[in-house]
Amino acid sequence: MAKDRIRFICSNCGHDSPKWQGVCPSCNEWNTFSEQKVVKAKKEKNKISISDGESHKITALSDIIISDADRFSTNLTEFDRVLNGGFVRGSFSLLGGDPGIGKSTLMLQVAKNCPDKKILYIAGEESGSQIKQRASRIGLKGENLFISSHTEVRDIIQKARSKQYDLLIIDSIQTVFSDDLTSLPGSVQQIRECSALLQQLAKKENVTTLMIGHVTKDGDIAGPRILEHMVDTVLHFEGDKNHLYRLLRTVKNRFGPAQEVGVFEMKEGGLEEVDNPSVLFMSDSELDVSGNSLTCIMEGTRPILVEVQALVTPSSYSTPQRTASGFDQRRLSLLIAVLEKRAMLSFAGNDVYLNIAGGLKVTDPAADFAVVSALVSSLRDETLSRDTVYFGEVGLGGEVRKVPFLEQRVREAEKMGLKRVMAPKVKTAENWSLEYRSAAFINELRL
Ligand code: TYD
Ligand code: MG
Repeated sequence: MAKDRIRFICSNCGHDSPKWQGVCPSCNEWNTFSEQKVVKAKKEKNKISISDGESHKITALSDIIISDADRFSTNLTEFDRVLNGGFVRGSFSLLGGDPGIGKSTLMLQVAKNCPDKKILYIAGEESGSQIKQRASRIGLKGENLFISSHTEVRDIIQKARSKQYDLLIIDSIQTVFSDDLTSLPGSVQQIRECSALLQQLAKKENVTTLMIGHVTKDGDIAGPRILEHMVDTVLHFEGDKNHLYRLLRTVKNRFGPAQEVGVFEMKEGGLEEVDNPSVLFMSDSELDVSGNSLTCIMEGTRPILVEVQALVTPSSYSTPQRTASGFDQRRLSLLIAVLEKRAMLSFAGNDVYLNIAGGLKVTDPAADFAVVSALVSSLRDETLSRDTVYFGEVGLGGEVRKVPFLEQRVREAEKMGLKRVMAPKVKTAENWSLEYRSAAFINELRL
């Protein structure tokens, strides 16, 4: 009879300790230890033999060969973009995102676009018929897609080994469990154990694996932090519930640049790739009102034109309101303070509302100058010309600073039919085909 042990596991990092502690010695988080019963499994059962002998050898780096065949394309341009050209064979990836954002749909879409790849799909969250329904919605027949709803980790490993699958999809890692542990699926211990076994499968037997993971309220992937260290690639699928666009972002990538973005739109028949995202975020209204300005932000290496809308109105409260959606509220307060101090404008007694059209969240500091222009335009109630793009970071001294990727931003504005650019002083501006107005300080802003 196996003996039960009690261990205390940190829910943040997975650190395991024989006694309860208030603060985790590994990640310094407070109150994260919870009691878990560990059943020691019989030796033979616990033994997993994932070994190819290769890993015992020492090889000179120069003798290791990489070939193009080590990567396969998903035939989805936006997905390939974030993976830097497709799945690396034997890679171990994690895809996180809010519930209902479209993670499972995205993976079915991958299956649809790769009819020549054999895919094993471990469905822990939905039944086969639910998947079938969704598949028919996106027009996937699925001769290449094999579904199993048994989520015991050793069973998964055995199935993945039995046939040469090109891709193993685990939907989701929180539903996978190991019979050796008594804790519930989704617990830190289970996730840690199961993903470690799956990692060995990926690395030693070259099975390309993608795990779908739940996220916590704060947007982190649920489970131990160690999970993100274990995988080669961490992807985040995000979007706004009230809007149809979805962004697939690389948070970590051992095989290419991180912070790359793929853009999709959720349609009736599944996810559609968006190759020109600026169209999505520029409002197409011809309405000439004050307070609207255009800027060009960078998402990864992609320029996207977005519309900034500001509304400055007399306040009926003793403390005026400052509200921002899609933009950091503290940054908005800072920009208002800079305008008051450096451009001698007064926002006192006015409520200020700021909105980024299309529901995008803007963090690129290059949008500062557009926010400032929109604020001034609304305050003075003077319309900005709709064919000018504004970008530049605004400093506390009121200076407009240079931002990276100038050429890409200007080219995108040109592609979208804009005529003028208002940006900080730069040398390369003479090559630009757009009319250029430089502004070194915010008071040089011309509406
Ligand atoms: P799903 O892939 O189940 O999300 P996740 O796996 O991240 O939880 O996505 C479900 C949502 O997507 C659901 O709200 C309906 C929507 N949807 C469409 O709008 N069109 C479609 O063709 C499909 C398949 C789903
Ligand atoms: Mg799902």
